[in-house]
Formats: sequence, C-alpha cells, structure tokens
Amino acid sequence: MKITVAGAGYVGLVTSAGLAELGHSITCIDIEKEKIDMLQNGLSPIYEPGLELLIKKNLRNGQLKFTMSPDQAYSAADIIFIAVGTPEEKDGSVDLKYIHVVSHTIAHYIKKDVIVCTKSTVPVGTNELIKQIIQSRKSTSINAEVVSNPEFLREGSAVLDFFQGDRIVIGADNPEAATIMEQIYLPLKIPIIKTDIKSAEMIKYTSNAFLATKISFINEIANLCEKVGANIEEVAYGIGYDKRIGHEFLKAGIGYGGSCFPKDTRALVQLAGNVKYPFELLEAAIKVNNHQQSLPVLKAKELLGSLKNKRVAILGLAFKPDTDDVREAASLIIIKELLEEGALVRAYDPIAIPNAKKLLGNSIEYAYNLHYALYEADFAIIVTEWEQIKHVRLDIFQTYMKEPIVIDGRNCYSLEEIEKYPITYLSIGRQGVYKGRPKDEMSIINF
Ligand code: UDX
Repeated sequence: MKITVAGAGYVGLVTSAGLAELGHSITCIDIEKEKIDMLQNGLSPIYEPGLELLIKKNLRNGQLKFTMSPDQAYSAADIIFIAVGTPEEKDGSVDLKYIHVVSHTIAHYIKKDVIVCTKSTVPVGTNELIKQIIQSRKSTSINAEVVSNPEFLREGSAVLDFFQGDRIVIGADNPEAATIMEQIYLPLKIPIIKTDIKSAEMIKYTSNAFLATKISFINEIANLCEKVGANIEEVAYGIGYDKRIGHEFLKAGIGYGGSCFPKDTRALVQLAGNVKYPFELLEAAIKVNNHQQSLPVLKAKELLGSLKNKRVAILGLAFKPDTDDVREAASLIIIKELLEEGALVRAYDPIAIPNAKKLLGNSIEYAYNLHYALYEADFAIIVTEWEQIKHVRLDIFQTYMKEPIVIDGRNCYSLEEIEKYPITYLSIGRQGVYKGRPKDEMSIINF
C-alpha cells in the first residue's frame, strides 16, 4: 500500500513515522519548506519523545519520505491521510481553510482510486464536505472514498499512544473502505471500532469534552476541599477505585491547556449552538477551567497583598510535561496576570522557552535552570509538573529564594515532606503550610 500523510504536525508526523514502522510505504507532505528540509535530514521540527528516532530509522530504510510536491504525494497513493491543522476561529468555530485547500489539491492530483482518511479533528459533517469537494473536482473515472479516522494521541506521549492506544475508530459509509483501513492497523493489535462517519467524528469531540469535564469536575471538588479542610489527593484516590470512575484524569491543579481540550470544547459548544442545543455542562466545564488557571495569582495576592515589583519565579511554561508546546498553557494566563499586577517575572522550563519567547518576547526573563529562576524570588509558582521540578531537594527554595513561598499549581509535593522545611506552601485542594506548619497549627505569622 502506498500511503500519503498530508500535514507534518505532531499528528501527521507521528502517524507517518508509526505507519512506516509498521512496514507501510509512507510519503508525508507539508507546505512549509523549512519543516520538510529538517525532516529530509532526519530532524524533527517538534519535540515528541521517540519521534525523531523513528523518523531517522524509517528515512534510512526507505519506508518514509518527505516532500512538498503534491504530484509526488497524491498521484500514486492508495490511501491519503488528512492530518492538517484545524485552528480555531475567533467565535470558537473551527477554521477549515487547510481542510478545503488539501481537499482541492487531492482532487486535482489523484490519478487512481483512493481512500481519503481524515485524521484531523473536524466538526461533525466535515467528512461529507471533503467528499463533496473531491467528488466535484476529480476526474469522473476515479473513485475516492472518504473515511473518518480520528486520532487520540496525547502530546508528550504521542508515539506511545500510536503503538499502545486504547482503540482505533474508523468511520466509513463503504464497508470495503473500512476493511482496507482495518488492514492498515491490524499489526498494532489494538481494538478497532468501525462505525458511521458522523459517529466517528462525534467520538473524537466527545472523548476530549468528557476528559476536559472530568478535569474541571475534580478541580471544583478540589476548591471545595480547601474550604472544608479535606485533601483532594485523598479524595481522588478514594473515588478512583470505583471502576466506573477510574484513577486517570483526576489530577487536580490549575486546569487543562494545550492545542486540543480548549479548542475542541469550545468547538463542541459552538457546534451544539448551531443546532440550537445549549451544551450547559460543557460551558460550565470551560468556565471552571478558565477560573482554575487564575488561582495561583489569586492565592499570591491573598498571601502577599500587592504583587507590584515582587520578583516571581514561574516554574514550567509548557502546557504539560514532556512537550515544548505552550499553546493555551496556563503559564501564559498566569504571566499575563502577574505582569498586569506589576510583578517581575523570571520563568524556567527545560524545553519550552523557545516557543514561549515567540509569544512573550522580552516581557519576562528566562531561566535555563531552576536555581537562577528561584534566585532572590519573593515567591514561586509551579505551573508544569516537570520531573526536574517534582524531584528537587526541597531545601532549594530556602537556599535561593528571598522568602521560601511556593504556590504549587500541580501539587508536586506531599504535605508531609513540605512540613519538614520552613516553606510557606499553598497548593490546590489541600490545606496551606506556613513556614513548615500546617494551617491549623499556625500562630499569627507576619510575612
Ligand atoms: C488530549 C487528549 O488526552 C488526547 O486523547 C487527544 O488526542 C488530544 O488532547 P493532550 O492535550 O496532548 O491530549 O494532553 P493531556 O495529557 O490529555 O492533558 C491535557 C491537559 O489536561 C494538560 O494541560 C494537563 O495538564 C491537564 N490535565 C490532564 C489535568 O489538569 N489533570 C489531569 O488529570 C490530566
């Protein structure tokens, strides 16, 4: 099978490298020359653990090629995956311009029967649109089947998720096309769900919306725990034993970010609105998440009063660990609020500083190690639970900071450990610790 993947983003690249690793002959096409130049030299334009190794290996053995030529990519392909970006419009709807362009290009260049398989996250009904575009512009002698095959890759573990995903969803009107797609994935030995196209498109949005809602739910419980004196980590552990709830995605913190949950939840609310269905629960989950991202600055102001001219160490810029992606990261909201309060910000992240700099410029300082970020800081905010942050010796805060005050947005440390140090430590869904003493033992302490 000759397979083409349109789009060399994190979905397109992981799909290309993964399918090549399964033994398929893959051509990956993109419109960005510098991206393709890097890839043809075996370099990955994105940080994704394990991806560059897979690209190098399959480039070398000829299973994987990169091109900018639509004729080379589409004319001889048996299957074409669409993995182009579907960014967000200002009103929350999905911008389908790249889907339109790639559909027209495919229609123009295909010279034989082909299956066009949409991997990009697209609103329900988009595959129908792709089919219409291709049907109306291709030569009549060619048959082009359209299939929906949404991805469930998490950034930072996308290669792992490709090979060890929970399920593969194939939405098709034509059973033969579904069977051909099934053959592509058989070597993975992952459960394959075959359904209709619209249900496949809806499965993708529903998955992300449910996971985002689960996060907002546990974050509301965390906020309640703080008020009643319970510990969210204990509560999450206790409810997670119920198989109907599970332990995953119950990590309370400052909410979700990234290029998927924020965009996909807003798109689903939009889509529901378009068919006159107000999706109240999802709207509430989005509202909770927006508030959650502002908690660290609210806590800092409660503790310290004015933040003007206060030096703050931001620990973590990426929206989650093991990625350099800062799209809709909590760090961007928190830094914006701190700058509005007149604070002086110095941010550390092991790999996301270059991407953060593109957005923040020189409005803040950047630290390439934790010690410099903490040096002489009045307080620190933990935004991303990098291993490098989770496993520091806790005396680091009193060693480098003007005053060891830590606001932990990702609950990186146990209260038991923290209480061994003269740290003032506020986290999410747990009681505060003041200079090593739990809240209920706290005498009046002057800060
Ligand atoms: C998500 C979905 O998991 C994936 O299936 C889909 O294909 C793309 O969107 P991703 O956004 O890359 O993947 O990362 P994920 O690990 O899901 O985390 C998303 C956000 O939720 C991160 O900001 C993370 O910090 C946050 N999160 C996650 C929590 O706050 N608590 C949790 O328990 C889990």
